[in-house]
Amino acid sequence: MSSHKKNFVSTSMQTLSKKYFNIGQYRLDIWNNLKLIAPNFKGSKQPSTEEQAYIFELLDRLDVIERYWAYPGKKAIDSLKLMLSRQEFNSFGLALSNIFKALTSESYRLNPVSAKANLNNILEEGSIEKYDANKHYFEVMVVDSISEEQENNLVDRFEEVQNTNDKFIYNVLIVQSVQDALIALLFNPNLQCGLIRQDIPLYSTNNLDTISSFLGSIPKFESFVVESHDTGPILGEMLKNFRPEIDLFYITNTSISQIKTNTLGLFRRIFYRQEDIQELHLSILRGIRERYHTPFFNALRQYSQKPTGVFHAMPISRGNSVFKSNWIKSLGDFYGRNIFLAETSATTGGLDSLLQPTGSIKEAQQYAARAFGSKETFFVTNGTSTSNKIVLQALIRPGDVVLVDRDCHKSHHYGLVMMGAKAVYLDSYPIIDYSMYGAVPLADIKEKLYEFKEAGRLSSVKMLILTNCTFDGMVYNVERVMEEILAIKPDMVFLWDEAWFGFARFTPVYRQRTAMYNADKLSKKYKSPEYKEYYEARLIAEEGKTLNIPNPEEVKIRVYSTQSTHKTLTAFRQGSMIHVYDEEFKRKTEDAFHEAYMTHTSTSPNYQIVASLDIGRRQVELEGYEMVEKGIEMAMNLREKITIHPLLNKYFEVLTIAQFIPETYRSSGLSVYFDAEEGWSQMGEAWEKDEFVLDPTKITLYIGKTGIDGDTFKREFLMDKFGIQVNKTTRNTVLFMTNIGTTRSSVTYLVSVLLKVAEQIEEKTRSFNPAEMKLHEASIQSLTQNLPPLPNFSYFHAAFRSHWDTSEGNIRDAYFYAYEEEYCEYLKIEECEKAMEEEREIVSTNFVTPYPPGFPILVPGQVMTREIIDFMKALDVKEIHSYRPELGFRVFKEMALEKLGYKSHPPKPKVKEGEEEDSQENEPVKIDKVIVSNGNGQKIKTKNN
Ligand SMILES: Cc1ncc(COP(=O)(O)O)c(C=O)c1O
Repeated sequence: MSSHKKNFVSTSMQTLSKKYFNIGQYRLDIWNNLKLIAPNFKGSKQPSTEEQAYIFELLDRLDVIERYWAYPGKKAIDSLKLMLSRQEFNSFGLALSNIFKALTSESYRLNPVSAKANLNNILEEGSIEKYDANKHYFEVMVVDSISEEQENNLVDRFEEVQNTNDKFIYNVLIVQSVQDALIALLFNPNLQCGLIRQDIPLYSTNNLDTISSFLGSIPKFESFVVESHDTGPILGEMLKNFRPEIDLFYITNTSISQIKTNTLGLFRRIFYRQEDIQELHLSILRGIRERYHTPFFNALRQYSQKPTGVFHAMPISRGNSVFKSNWIKSLGDFYGRNIFLAETSATTGGLDSLLQPTGSIKEAQQYAARAFGSKETFFVTNGTSTSNKIVLQALIRPGDVVLVDRDCHKSHHYGLVMMGAKAVYLDSYPIIDYSMYGAVPLADIKEKLYEFKEAGRLSSVKMLILTNCTFDGMVYNVERVMEEILAIKPDMVFLWDEAWFGFARFTPVYRQRTAMYNADKLSKKYKSPEYKEYYEARLIAEEGKTLNIPNPEEVKIRVYSTQSTHKTLTAFRQGSMIHVYDEEFKRKTEDAFHEAYMTHTSTSPNYQIVASLDIGRRQVELEGYEMVEKGIEMAMNLREKITIHPLLNKYFEVLTIAQFIPETYRSSGLSVYFDAEEGWSQMGEAWEKDEFVLDPTKITLYIGKTGIDGDTFKREFLMDKFGIQVNKTTRNTVLFMTNIGTTRSSVTYLVSVLLKVAEQIEEKTRSFNPAEMKLHEASIQSLTQNLPPLPNFSYFHAAFRSHWDTSEGNIRDAYFYAYEEEYCEYLKIEECEKAMEEEREIVSTNFVTPYPPGFPILVPGQVMTREIIDFMKALDVKEIHSYRPELGFRVFKEMALEKLGYKSHPPKPKVKEGEEEDSQENEPVKIDKVIVSNGNGQKIKTKNN
């Protein structure tokens, strides 16, 4: 027997967790190892005793694992073992090959016959090939402690009531305990619903030792669970928390009047033991059909099949202007007929109106709300750029103060201009070595709020905008942020920009960091009698002091999330959603929201985008868990391959959590996802408690050691030569992302491309003459050591501020003031430097946004600082929006600021304890010199009067 086989069998637990990130690949590898040995036994050739022992060992491993899958399941393992013990080696080989083919090609999902892995089917030659692409396969989990005979009986009864012509086919998996049910749900993405019996044992009798390294995210049982006799509802709650989309049914003997209300809310339906299987079967299918149903996509398909005459605009509708054309038929050839048949502006025939939905679009949005856990969801056909502006307009009035991370997407900055909001910019901590920003520490956000509180103007603060997760994968502790902010300001509105995080709801570790999940969690928490009691007790204990937890009588959950569905899930470009969980929505915001929606939405919305949002929702409700987990697994594979390959890790480095997140924000201590020595780390604890975590699907590759800058690497090496697209680079990094569409082969392709690039660099450097080598070393030096400092937000000029004790600025005033051409001038960098030496405050008229990093280094009304100049000088990017190097920065002339009466209005210093406060907040302050902080810990001198 080969050493490979020996090694596989002797793989210890510790090695397993090093080798496999999750159980799926381990399971397939065992099947694969079996499959490799099986062809040896065809005909008269018999396996040696050693080979038989090896096969039994592998089957024993599968015996533990397959208990959590209905296909092929434990029964198939029993059958294989039986064949082996009867020395039926030919049958064994055939059965194994059939199962392996069905599993790896996933054909069992499309084949109602082969999906039943009983002895006859797995032995039927060719049975695997007979599949029907219109079938949808899933598995139903029954949690019940029953005998083997009862199990067989139950499976048979479910089989009897199923109709093989139905497009939904399922197998039944029976597990015996709460622990097994949780493991099954973790391992098996085919599970779409669970039938839970009343009293089930807590602990598994399966030998979990061999799979323990994959069980990290299974919750430990709290003592109240261990002591409870009512395990059914407890399990129901745990399963719902784990995968909220699945349908749960409860099978009990307790009369309905004795069942607790929250148990009733957990389960789709309660059944009594004596009720028949037919009814259960129909309820299961109804649940699946509801998730499968796509109201708008269906309506659009039906509409496209109806004969119509078009007597209004849209010559493209029905393809009329295309297929009859002599010149542009190629458009039709490329897209096919359906897209034109579905192009319409009709709001009749079931198509509904996006601007005022009452039918299929309304229903599709309600389904999306269910899937994404919101109270209301709105489809947007112009991307999250528009979603953000809609939310801002719906909630912000001119003069309201908005706290916003400065490196947020530009749609927020423009939204703030449009709404006339006063912006308080929050600084993310810089990651200077890689020219990137991290995220905004909670302590800094609270500090800003306390400034408003001290100034007696907390009521003017309306909203906090944060990006979760950021482009680079920085993820906030959403629950902690909201709790601690609500303790200071109980009516704060949160806008979480989840443009890159739409997928996060569909796997439990990520879900706990999403806006909608936490809005629901906190809303329920603050309404609970337990929280009210706790709050009262704290009040008494702390003798009426202001508590650092929200007051349940005052707190309001007002949470909005905007997601670019098209970025991380299935939707056409620009398909975006706004999810709302706002307890005040109906009372305070609904009308304004609809006006805002009308303001920004085209009266000719693209129906293809709406239909794709509808069907994208179907996908996540039925296979979101599976696909998101796959995407994460692919990312982990990529991390592993680059880390362990000697040539790759000579030039490339996948940045670790520790390189992104300073230790102080990582109480779990987790610093890497994969380490060549230690293998995989469990991410559960860090995602539960750390202030920031890194989304592993965003893989930042450090390329400084190649001597090639990020932009050149992206264009010349990845795109032009190998057709690999990435959308973000910094001077010395390239960002790769995996998503629900990433395949194993695309990961392999990327790795092979990186290898080719590394080989090219090796070859090139070998042939360098000394002068070339010097140049090469200089570029490495510049990319790895001479990195430009990252400036923080400086401050708004006096002319665009109304107060000195808080830092908000009115960017709209500055933005529109700059429409007066005679008030503006251009200053080149050297001119700026000279003017600053003369102590002039240079004030930007507009946004200046270098790509990368892609956020404004200057905003209208902001004062230029030395750090900003240094950063601009060190930048080597080609794209800087709203900046023309030949002209320089567009700034306000001094006379323009004087005209506003602000020449002699330098910022008022903060009133120190014991000093008297100036009662006239907006009055000019006659002082000679003033020092304000630039938010970077440094002090900036403003103009002397
Ligand atoms: C954080 C963030 N928000 C919003 C957007 C805008 O999204 P969309 O492209 O859907 O308009 C982007 C785009 O990259 C983004 O990165």
